Amino acid sequence: MDFEKLRNDFPMITNHPELVYFDNAATTFKPKCVIDAEMEYYNNYCANTHRGDYDIAYQADVKFDESRKIIANFINAEKKEIVFTSGDSMSLNQVAYGLMNRLEKDDEILVSLVEHASCLLPWYRVCEIKGCKIKFIPVNAQGEITVDNLLKVISNKTKIVSIAHISNVLGAINDIKSLVKIAHDYKAIFVCDGAQSVPHMKIDVKDLDVDFLTFSGHKCYGPTGIGVLYGKYHLLKDMEPLCLGGGMNATFDVACNVKYLDSPEKFESGTQNIAGVVGLAKAIEYLNNIGMNNIFEYEKELKRYLIEKISVLNNIKIYNPDNKTGIVAFNINDVFAQDAATLFNHYHICVRSGEHCAKLIHNLLNVDATVRVSVCFYNTKKEIDYFIDVCKKGGDFLDAFFA
Ligand code: ALA
Repeated sequence: MDFEKLRNDFPMITNHPELVYFDNAATTFKPKCVIDAEMEYYNNYCANTHRGDYDIAYQADVKFDESRKIIANFINAEKKEIVFTSGDSMSLNQVAYGLMNRLEKDDEILVSLVEHASCLLPWYRVCEIKGCKIKFIPVNAQGEITVDNLLKVISNKTKIVSIAHISNVLGAINDIKSLVKIAHDYKAIFVCDGAQSVPHMKIDVKDLDVDFLTFSGHKCYGPTGIGVLYGKYHLLKDMEPLCLGGGMNATFDVACNVKYLDSPEKFESGTQNIAGVVGLAKAIEYLNNIGMNNIFEYEKELKRYLIEKISVLNNIKIYNPDNKTGIVAFNINDVFAQDAATLFNHYHICVRSGEHCAKLIHNLLNVDATVRVSVCFYNTKKEIDYFIDVCKKGGDFLDAFFA
């Protein structure tokens, strides 16, 4: 696969050749085919789904349904197990709200210190409402949740284990399959936040045996405002929808009786982000053509190269040298992370700095903030070389702006 050539598919790259975009864990650029697919909907069959009895509405229905199938196949799920949401955060909020009726006072929900706010705060609220308890699974030095550490905290009181597949700050990959097996031995439900894994590696929900998997379209080279909630059908069937309205009910009457539709429609009230769904399906076709295993290997090599080059600089502290994904968290000695990001911006390099929405992780790292580089398949070793040259300037921070 000629990854360098793929850069031509991305208008953000061809329109801005000076940019080095290293913030792919926040969002990715979109290939032209995704933008075209969205425009095609708006230009040629712009109608609401599941409501109209005319040709373009039928066309929108067919496209919407085909898109769900493409997205389901991508993670080896069934169509009825794929719920569209506005993004990963909404997916996680839906799961937390939806599972609340299974929980009782003193039940325990297991999370970890490395989780993103979206994987923690919905559970905090559930605990407040239901009187359940949050427990933190310890992580190892790489930020991984190991089987041994899960075994230290799981018990018969555990009803839910909710963790990310890959940490958005440390890039550690959790062995989800082994962790799920333990959770299931204790009859707990396993919720996996796939925001940072689905765009970068092959995911098979049946093989992992996760009960729920959530992700965002915009981190998968797709549009913003579209997300996915995968759930095992029997769990979705029993789950309470967070959002009620048109398109999700079968009947309702003046006595306030309401009967919901089946999954996935039950969770999709109101007009859906049709262009977003179509765009995401196109992004997934694009990824399928490249091959997820090719993407994983190429990004792993970029990360290895970056670590090799950055490790020899004596003004840098790296927090996750050993993880296999394209995320590198670091600080330049004596330079506040946000100032470092400003320095990089001066040289047209886009990185993220701060707490990365994972405000508990810095208790582990003993720093207030980090700089995060997150590469993906359209990045190159040449960009990394340029980035390393700018890192070298960080030692003499103010002068670096004028060098
Ligand atoms: N969750 C996104 C990130 O990690 C926004 O940057």
